[in-house]
Amino acid sequence: MSSYIKSPLNYTGGKYKILDDIIPCFPKNIETFVDLFGGGFNVGINIDAEKIIYNDHNLFLPQMFEYFKLKGVNIIDKIYYRIKEFGLSEENQEGYLTLRKKYNEGKDVLDLFILTCYSNPV
Ligand SMILES: C[S@@+](CC[C@H](N)C(=O)[O-])C[C@H]1O[C@@H](n2cnc3c(N)ncnc32)[C@H](O)[C@@H]1O
Repeated sequence: MSSYIKSPLNYTGGKYKILDDIIPCFPKNIETFVDLFGGGFNVGINIDAEKIIYNDHNLFLPQMFEYFKLKGVNIIDKIYYRIKEFGLSEENQEGYLTLRKKYNEGKDVLDLFILTCYSNPV
């Protein structure tokens, strides 16, 4: 597999694993690439184009990607701090629920990202 950027979101329907099959199907020299159903952005982020437009009807997603783009690696410490602050782990449901409550009060997009990392779909 070529080296592609992997979405930080463990996204249902994410195309990361099949990028080797998808990417060669696109034309060369793309001016504007519109990732219409952007989701975890595994496709758009790996396209060589002059301009890439992300679109998704879930408006939390573009907010999250804008935030990652703006802050870059500077969010890593904040993520570790939050994990420690709320004692997040696979077992600590109370910590998760407390952070979820805080997110619902403040709508901090990084808290939403952290919650998605610790949510466990059944
Ligand atoms: C399977 S995911 C895309 C995964 C993405 N290609 C990746 O590799 O990470 C499909 C996305 O399409 C979005 N979606 C579905 N219907 C839509 C619509 N009518 N307009 C915009 N986005 C839509 C969903 O919110 C979801 O995030």
